[in-house]
Amino acid sequence: MNGVKKAVITTAGMGTRFLPATKAVPKSMLPIVDRPILDYIIDEAAASGMEEAIVVIGSNAEVIEKHFERDAYLEERLKSDKKDGLLAAVRKITDRIKITFVTQEEMNGLAGALLYAEKAVGNEPFALLLGDEIIYTKADQKPCIRQLCDVYEKTEKTVIATMRVSDKDVEKYGNIGIAKDGAIKEVNDLAEKPKAEEKLSNYAIIGRYVLAPGIFDEIRKLKKHGNEIILTDAFCSMAKRGEIVASEFEGTRYDVGDKSGYVQANVAYALRDPSIGSGIAEFIGKIREEL
Ligand code: G1P
Repeated sequence: MNGVKKAVITTAGMGTRFLPATKAVPKSMLPIVDRPILDYIIDEAAASGMEEAIVVIGSNAEVIEKHFERDAYLEERLKSDKKDGLLAAVRKITDRIKITFVTQEEMNGLAGALLYAEKAVGNEPFALLLGDEIIYTKADQKPCIRQLCDVYEKTEKTVIATMRVSDKDVEKYGNIGIAKDGAIKEVNDLAEKPKAEEKLSNYAIIGRYVLAPGIFDEIRKLKKHGNEIILTDAFCSMAKRGEIVASEFEGTRYDVGDKSGYVQANVAYALRDPSIGSGIAEFIGKIREEL
């Protein structure tokens, strides 16, 4: 079968949790050390063999498009100043993957965002990466979305990335019911952010999926909850027909849509950065003594 070649990345939330930082700057442009959040996510798609990233942006998000445009003046300047490392960093993403943008006119939830990307996706399976999660994988691990594509290519079923959570955290995530556990889990039911007493299991949905093209028709059948169309709802009838599987991913997840998760990601990526890591580790040791 043909591999998964397109990735949809949703970024269009209001960023209210990060106000006032997100008043003029979209949340996906906030930096983790020296690259915006969205760079890390498109990098994951490119490293997973995707040929095109379709980025769903909000209105007034031209700065995102500008960030991914080639800047001939800057590149010339870095070249003549012999700043090869910075030149490579500036071109790291754009050289490897085609990036297209679609605007989400109405803030109508995750499934609503996908409908805006439908035309660009066409009738083929695609990866979905939510813009407020970064998944770090080590050099000897496959990127998270590649892990899911491998499962899709084996099963030809929609694949959801999952992780185990405690009862206390069940209500923060979409939740899946498992008919058969294993490396590839057969999903027979789903619930969006249930109370712990109503959980189907302790497996939570995280923001990485590979979706079969039938998803758009399923979304069109859904009713809105308030203003939002909930993607998890679209999976329910598919699960009853045995069309959904889930897979526990390898790697470390940072919820950068959350203030604490965002700071944790900055600390973790700074500590892993060979040019500043040891200085930051020393600083953390010192500040902990002072507090
Ligand atoms: C979305 C999904 C939810 C999933 C979560 C992962 O929720 O609807 O099922 O568990 O992403 O981050 P959101 O965080 O957008 O409310």
